[in-house]
Amino acid sequence: MTLLVATTWDPEPWVERFQSLMPELPVVIPGDIFDRRRVSYVAAWGPKSGALSGLPALEVIFSLGAGVDHLMGYPDLPPVPIVRVMSDDLTTRMSEYVVLHCLLYLRDQRRYDAQQRAKIWEQDRSPPRASDVRVGIMGVGVLGQDAARKLSMMGFDVAGWSRTPRAVDGFETFAGREGLDAFLARTDILVCLLPLTPETRGILNRTLFERLARDGRLGGPFLINAGRGGLQIEQDIVACLDDGTLKGATLDVFETEPLPEDSPLWLHPRVTVTPHVSAVSSPDATARSIVEQIRRHEAGEPLEGVVDLARGY
Ligand SMILES: NC(=O)c1ccc[n+]([C@@H]2O[C@H](COP(=O)([O-])OP(=O)(O)OC[C@H]3O[C@@H](n4cnc5c(N)ncnc54)[C@H](OP(=O)(O)O)[C@@H]3O)[C@@H](O)[C@H]2O)c1
Repeated sequence: MTLLVATTWDPEPWVERFQSLMPELPVVIPGDIFDRRRVSYVAAWGPKSGALSGLPALEVIFSLGAGVDHLMGYPDLPPVPIVRVMSDDLTTRMSEYVVLHCLLYLRDQRRYDAQQRAKIWEQDRSPPRASDVRVGIMGVGVLGQDAARKLSMMGFDVAGWSRTPRAVDGFETFAGREGLDAFLARTDILVCLLPLTPETRGILNRTLFERLARDGRLGGPFLINAGRGGLQIEQDIVACLDDGTLKGATLDVFETEPLPEDSPLWLHPRVTVTPHVSAVSSPDATARSIVEQIRRHEAGEPLEGVVDLARGY
């Protein structure tokens, strides 16, 4: 039994964590000399072409992140279960990011940042309350549900949108293309926590932004995308910010990463850019959850978070 760590990130901290959490499990990386016939598990993030071939004893591929789009187009993907990361650590980080940026918009913090730099003392004496602001979360999965609960606790008026109907306590839900219009029409801050699949690619485009609420207390709709860059059409985001269709955008993910130096998003006055850090997979928490799954699998128990290849997430 061997674990192969195949990642575009620095593998060292991962190898070290796996080794200390499960000393009986040999851990290798693609450059090592090792017996490929002994590899039962792969922990992967964007593995290089060929890294997953010729592993006859492979039982499970673990994605080192919650998303698995980095594996979906992989040529010769071995026919074994793919398991995505689900850890409280990652979920909590994402909710912090979403709550932070919703609060920044609610409290008009960007305006006060600019005022400070210009030494302007100007107060909004009747700011909106959280309950006046309708947040719409695209994706009512592990991340979307946690963010929705925490935003609701802050008082925001939250709704979610998913592919299939979901009944979740505490907030309203909409589903499918047929539920999308009603969901968008009641949304002041659109939070995207969708996986990237053939169905969702490019979904954050002008046609969708034009259907967002225009009668809200924030004076126009805002976008927060922490899902994947392939979900958004950046040209549309810039054009919609410039003509007022969108009032502001917080983007953690981009069509091309790192974000190219000549992207207009970098310096756009109404865009907040973060470098794909909304919910980083920490080696410690992620390796812990994978080791737990390996132990469960070795004990004959079912794996959790197995990806449905037909759905793509
Ligand atoms: N930026 C970062 O650092 C970062 C970190 C972690 C994760 N992410 C991204 O966040 C995504 C979501 O993670 P998760 O753990 O919450 O995933 P999840 O539990 O699988 O939930 C995905 C949600 O998206 C919905 N969905 C999928 N396809 C849809 C479609 N075509 N139309 C409408 N809804 C659709 C699903 O609907 P159903 O409920 O009907 O299945 C589900 O509610 C990941 O795939 C990853 O891309 C980003």
